Amino acid sequence: MRYIECKSPGPPDVMFVNEGPVPQLGSNEILIQVKAAGVNRPDLYQREGHYPPPAGASPIMGLEVAGIVAQVGHEVANWKVGDAVCALSNGGGYAEYCAVPAGQCLPLPKGLDFVDAASIPEAYFTVWGNLFMRGRFKSGESILVHGGSSGIGSCAIQLAKAFGGHVATTVGNADKMAFCKSLMADEIINYKEQDFFAVLKNKGVDLVLDIVGGQYFEKNFLLLKEEGRLIQVARMRGGEAVLDLSRLMFKRLTVLGSTLRAQSSEAKAKIAQELLSRVWPLFEKRTLKTVVTATFPLANAPDAHKLMESSQHCGKIVLTVES
Ligand SMILES: NC(=O)c1ccc[n+]([C@@H]2O[C@H](COP(=O)([O-])OP(=O)(O)OC[C@H]3O[C@@H](n4cnc5c(N)ncnc54)[C@H](OP(=O)(O)O)[C@@H]3O)[C@@H](O)[C@H]2O)c1
Repeated sequence: MRYIECKSPGPPDVMFVNEGPVPQLGSNEILIQVKAAGVNRPDLYQREGHYPPPAGASPIMGLEVAGIVAQVGHEVANWKVGDAVCALSNGGGYAEYCAVPAGQCLPLPKGLDFVDAASIPEAYFTVWGNLFMRGRFKSGESILVHGGSSGIGSCAIQLAKAFGGHVATTVGNADKMAFCKSLMADEIINYKEQDFFAVLKNKGVDLVLDIVGGQYFEKNFLLLKEEGRLIQVARMRGGEAVLDLSRLMFKRLTVLGSTLRAQSSEAKAKIAQELLSRVWPLFEKRTLKTVVTATFPLANAPDAHKLMESSQHCGKIVLTVES
């Protein structure tokens, strides 16, 4: 099969198309003939050599795919050859074939094509697992989503709105503000023009979902109301922070963090089941929309990474795979 390989860790142009064997299938895995593969910022970190794949995972980049089941492991009962699926992979998505644990696969939401479906898993598994399962988000609560135009942010805005939340979000320019407005965010702050803390400090929020870290941590923490939850899923501006333990105790606050890739297949399968029952119907009703901003053929993966590195995109970037 054709797949994307890196000559060595480095900038986007280290990537090239190579040929190698189709992945070997485990007994609980399915082999997907990939039609589209989502691009996520962790892929950029992996290409640069800062985010090695976990033990046992494919060394090929790519955390989400959509395509057609080409083969099933002998213990897999719920999928058959020819099914159209999308999946959270543990790696290996930038390729013509990708092996994925069966529990991490979901049917294509009705009405969506492979490109749209490939843009869903990484962000929706991450946000559902953190905001709803671990963060106990409930209708009527307020949330601050940092980086609202990112893959993660655009998903969090839509899910929080769909489940009855009031959403404030931060972005870095006017186009991104318009994009977040189209996703129905209630309050959109251009952080280059306004201090988000000054805007929100009087009312506070019940939850913060943050990808920035660094100096944002203290402000995020101070914004939390009693019983508030701060959820950290990335640290784009640094991983060191000072925590005020008195405030943590007196306001009964919770600080949470997680990375998706490191979790077990069982934990990911549990998230998949909740997505299927609670989120997939919302795609089918068009309450949730996919936000693919650009597609590139697999061979043009360097251009896809350059666009993501520019941070000019809104929403998701997807690679298409012709076979
Ligand atoms: N914990 C997990 O399980 C998990 C899973 C998936 C992704 N992530 C992480 O979540 C983050 C977002 O991922 P994504 O795929 O959604 O990325 P993305 O679509 O590329 O969005 C990233 C956005 O973050 C904003 N940003 C804030 N600070 C930045 C900085 N210092 N440098 C560059 N951009 C900055 C930019 O928008 P503005 O112009 O508005 O600043 C940028 O467009 C990444 O750090 C990723 O590693 C974590």
